[in-house]
Amino acid sequence: MPHLFEPLTIRGLTLRNRIGVSPMCMFSYTDGFSNEFQLVHLGARAAGGVGLVIAEATAVEARGRITAHDVGLWSDTHIEAQQRVTSAIKAYGAVAGVQIAHAGRKASVGHPSTAKGRTIRPGEPGGWQPVGPSALPFNAESPTPIELSIPEIQDIQAAFRSGAERALAAGYEWLEIHAAHGYLIHSFYSPLSNQRTDRYGGCFDNRIRFLLETVATTRAVWPERLPLTVRISGTDWVEGGWTVEESVELARRLKVAGVDLVDCSSGGGVANATIPVGPGYQVPISEAVRHGAGILTAAVGLITAPALADEIIRNGRADLVLLGRELLRDPYWTLHAAQTLRQPIPCPPQYRSAF
Ligand SMILES: Cc1cc2nc3c(=O)[nH]c(=O)nc-3n(C[C@H](O)[C@H](O)[C@H](O)COP(=O)(O)O)c2cc1C
Repeated sequence: MPHLFEPLTIRGLTLRNRIGVSPMCMFSYTDGFSNEFQLVHLGARAAGGVGLVIAEATAVEARGRITAHDVGLWSDTHIEAQQRVTSAIKAYGAVAGVQIAHAGRKASVGHPSTAKGRTIRPGEPGGWQPVGPSALPFNAESPTPIELSIPEIQDIQAAFRSGAERALAAGYEWLEIHAAHGYLIHSFYSPLSNQRTDRYGGCFDNRIRFLLETVATTRAVWPERLPLTVRISGTDWVEGGWTVEESVELARRLKVAGVDLVDCSSGGGVANATIPVGPGYQVPISEAVRHGAGILTAAVGLITAPALADEIIRNGRADLVLLGRELLRDPYWTLHAAQTLRQPIPCPPQYRSAF
C-alpha cells in the first residue's frame, strides 16, 4: 500500500505526494477577479510542500456566488489574473487545481466578517435572487429560490462547461466540480431540497441527472490527460436524506462518466443535521465509496495529525487527503509532517537551512 509521501499519478498528471489543500473560500475578491491575495495564499501553500492545491469554490455564474466577494470564472476576462495564480502554484512544485461551483439556493450571503454570513435578500443592497431545484428555502432566514426551468438547467450546465474551458485556459490541471454542502448540484440530488416532478426530480436516477449531465458536458471539454473530480456530500446526516449507500451508487455512475476521483465531504444541505464531528469523521464515507465503487477518493475533515493522514493512505481508506483549516494555521504542515514521519522533506531550496 502507498503512504502519505508516495506520488499519485492520475491520467497524465503526477502529484508529488498525497496531500492537498482543500478548497476554501477566502471572500477576498471583487467582481470575480483573482488578485495578489489568492496568488500569495495559494503560492505559499504550494511552497509548503503539498502535492495539490485546489483553489476555492469558483463561480461559473455571477448569481452562483455564495457572496459578492467570491472568485469566478464566468467571463473570459477572469482568466488572466488566474494564470498568475496557477503559475505560482506550479513554480513551487504543486499541481494547480480549481473547484468550479454554483451556490444555488445558498447564494446571496453577506461577507463573513461584516454580515456574519447572513443571507442578503433580493432587493437589499448586495443581494440577488437565488435559484434551485425547487422553491424551498434553505432555512427560515433564506429567501425562497426560484425553481429552475429545464432550459435554465441547461444554461447552468453550459456555464460549468465554459468554466472548465476557462479553468484550462488559466492553467489549471485538476478540475473539481462542487457537488457538496447544499449548493446547487447537491440540492438537486438530495431528496430534502428537490421536490421536482420532471426528469430532474423524484427517483434516484432523476435526482443525480443534473450532476451526471454536468459531468458529461464538462468531461467533453476537459482534456483526456487531466483528472476530473467531484466533491460530494456523502450523507445529509438526516433521516430521510441522502445516504452513503446512494453515494456509492452515484460514484459508480461517475466513474463510468469519466470521473477519476470522488472527494468525500458531507452535510451542508439542511440546517438541522446533527454531525458527529471529530478527527477523520468523514473518512468512513471515503472508505465506503472507494471500496464500493472501485474509484479513487479523497478524504477530508479534521485530518490534522500526520499519523492519521498517513494511516488513511496506508490502509487504503483514501488515495489523497485534503486539509483545510490546518493548512490555514500552518502552510508548512507538509514539511513538518515529513519530518515527523521521517520522509524526505519537499522543501523549497531557499528554506533548506530551516529544515
Ligand atoms: C474558510 C473556509 C472556506 C471553505 N470553502 C469551501 C469551498 O470553497 N469549497 C468546499 O468544497 N469546501 C469549502 N470549505 C470546506 C473545506 O474544504 C473542508 O472540507 C472543511 O473545512 C473540513 O476540512 P478541515 O477540517 O481540514 O478544515 C471551506 C472551509 C473553510 C474553513
